Amino acid sequence: MATKHILIVPGDGIGQEVTAVGKKVLDKIAVKFGHTFTYDEALIGHVAIEATGNPLPDESLEKMRKSDAVLFGAVGHPKYDNDPSAKVRPEQGLLKMRKELGLYANLRPIKLFDELLEASSIKPEILKGADILFFRELTGDIYFGEKGRKNNGDTAYDIAEYSRYEVERIARKAFDAARTRRKKLCSVDKANVIETSRLWREVVQKIALEYPDVEVEHQFVDATAMLLIKDPRRFDVVVTANLFGDILTDEASQIAGSMGMLASASIGDGTGVYEPIHGSAHDITGMGVANPLASILSAALLLDISFNMKAESEMVISAVDKVLKAGFRTRDIANAQTPADKILGTAAMGEEVLKFI
Ligand code: IPM
Ligand code: MG
Repeated sequence: MATKHILIVPGDGIGQEVTAVGKKVLDKIAVKFGHTFTYDEALIGHVAIEATGNPLPDESLEKMRKSDAVLFGAVGHPKYDNDPSAKVRPEQGLLKMRKELGLYANLRPIKLFDELLEASSIKPEILKGADILFFRELTGDIYFGEKGRKNNGDTAYDIAEYSRYEVERIARKAFDAARTRRKKLCSVDKANVIETSRLWREVVQKIALEYPDVEVEHQFVDATAMLLIKDPRRFDVVVTANLFGDILTDEASQIAGSMGMLASASIGDGTGVYEPIHGSAHDITGMGVANPLASILSAALLLDISFNMKAESEMVISAVDKVLKAGFRTRDIANAQTPADKILGTAAMGEEVLKFI
């Protein structure tokens, strides 16, 4: 029995709706296993800008540092998307949180629940059994390098930078994970063109010597984009830089049937942050139809990684599995054959999961 303090950071759009369900699942787990979970909430993103002018107020950051784990929703608002000149943006809050909390490793497990084989646009015989764990580096690369304009604003630049140390620490995390899985690691770069990628490859080759039991391959990012769709089962653990990881994991989400199914863990030196990989989805915000399973599965990752509560985490994942087996679907994972009474909204889907905990 443990006492833990969890910070709920819903952020924007459907982030509010799905984290509410994720929290309910954590609550039920606490009751079931006799733990005490206490909660607080904090602002980030567009809602934080509206309230304070700052996408990540100091108060939110302080609360994050003091909590044992953060359950995060999403950030973003359409009003900024077509306004490249906006100086303050919701996403800045997310990037600052990652940097300030030292969240250098972003784990994105791509696991296909058998019941959702048909929900993907990829053929079932190509997909069945696909199970990939991405390690996306999260605090370096072109995301955080110097950026700006020159020539009176007519030329723009973003500098991509990696240090040996930054590559080493994410590589070690990925190798360690490969050891607990099928012992295969694919390192993705663009070493035929990009200098940071050449350093990346050099460092991964060196670390590989410490893990002779792990089979390593190096792939270029363009080839990886193709192979993910052609033969997703060839991958076990994939490790890559920040920008490549951002793009490849959106692509890989289609292996799991929907973005609405994928959870992620951002970990590093201190508090871990757990969040769906989907965004704020303002097109469906407030309609109560968002898929809460990514937030629920993020809660499962939180229990596993930050609290080392393996049985609790497994119970959440198996509850999701049972709900899918029972035929319940949210809109995004339903198809023409799904009976109308099995298509549930956000809250109702959450209730079904709670029944199996
Ligand atoms: C993600 C998102 C973010 C990113 C955005 C919202 C800044 O796409 O977490 O994958 O690019 O990292
Ligand atoms: Mg992304």
